[in-house]
Amino acid sequence: MTVIVTGGAGFIGSNFVFHMLNTYPDYRIICLDKLTYAGNLSTLEPVMNNPDFRFVKLDICDREGVNRLFEEERPDIVVNFAAESHVDRSIENPEIFLQTNILGTQVLMDACRKYGIKRYHQVSTDEVYGDLPLDRPDLFFTEETPIHTSSPYSSSKAGADLLVMAYNRTYGLPVTISRCSNNYGPYHFPEKLIPLMIVNALADKPLPVYGEGLNVRDWLYVEDHCRAIDLIIHRGRNGEVYNVGGHNEMRNIDIVKLICKELGKPESLITHVEDRKGHDMRYAIDPTKIHNELGWLPETKFEDGIKKTIRWYLDNREWWEAIISGEYQNYYEKIYGSRARH
Ligand code: NAD
Ligand code: TYD
Repeated sequence: MTVIVTGGAGFIGSNFVFHMLNTYPDYRIICLDKLTYAGNLSTLEPVMNNPDFRFVKLDICDREGVNRLFEEERPDIVVNFAAESHVDRSIENPEIFLQTNILGTQVLMDACRKYGIKRYHQVSTDEVYGDLPLDRPDLFFTEETPIHTSSPYSSSKAGADLLVMAYNRTYGLPVTISRCSNNYGPYHFPEKLIPLMIVNALADKPLPVYGEGLNVRDWLYVEDHCRAIDLIIHRGRNGEVYNVGGHNEMRNIDIVKLICKELGKPESLITHVEDRKGHDMRYAIDPTKIHNELGWLPETKFEDGIKKTIRWYLDNREWWEAIISGEYQNYYEKIYGSRARH
């Protein structure tokens, strides 16, 4: 089997590359990545010399380049992680989100049609369902929940999902979609909540919590997400959507307090700042379908996963120090510099 993994130099994609190389020693894994600010070649260093692995620096919007790669590799499976993935950046500049997340998906699927594949898998997000109210803990996102997006990011992901289903129905392209809740774990770019708070706390810098910090996210350890995608691409039914989440809802403020506790840092570092525009209140996944059909269950409890994650950031300082010393400084200033205290 030859599998093209797009966005494999990013957070979840790189964890998936490692998962696949470890799980299927007879597979060939090709990572296609543009290496945007979020892509990091040093992450893939441990597998660069693996004969079953190939890295190709390429933009998924580059039709000629993508077709050339498909011609060379004739993949059986394509798993598309490549995306602009950060909500705050999408609020600042939506355009690149539409280009990469929607048009890039189209280019990949056109190549899949042209060269034939067994399965195109779209890595989507629970954010396409919009948000749930805090006072209705009985409600969860199922695969039947209507698409109802809030941010340019989630809208671009929803647009891509609709296109994937259209290619399935119109052209008969074999596809699956997974919609996962918030991931955490190693190699998470420090613009996202958990790694940002770890990195700031280690430097005794303010911990910028948006609004009151009462928003709820449903956190899943990244390896559990990778196992879910592995199951879906091999055993998931053509044309189906699978929600992925582990019933682990937590308020942002509680996560930040937990990080302070684990690192032995004072909660006085917590600074409430101006809220995110259009901020989704609560995400919560009902994973019944993937459990019943494919037997998937999360394996890592949050208490263990967060400890492992914090340990990883302590042990891999060079990885994130290289990131935060560069262009990240400008990003940080732009997003947080003008944010008034709440
Ligand atoms: P990330 O931002 O860490 O990584 C994205 C990767 O895609 C980077 O390596 C980047 O270089 C690459 N990329 C961006 N534009 C590209 C382009 N035009 N061509 C080729 N490569 C390009 O993102 P992530 O958190 O690993 O998310 C991966 C996927 O999973 C995304 O599609 C995201 O929507 C989805 N997702 C993420 C989460 C989460 O909690 N992080 C949850 C559910 C779904
Ligand atoms: P994030 O990691 O950006 O993921 P998403 O918005 O895709 O769920 O944010 C998770 C939650 O944390 C979200 O409610 C916004 C909040 N947040 C903060 O309070 N402060 C921050 O600095 C960041 C990055 C996020």
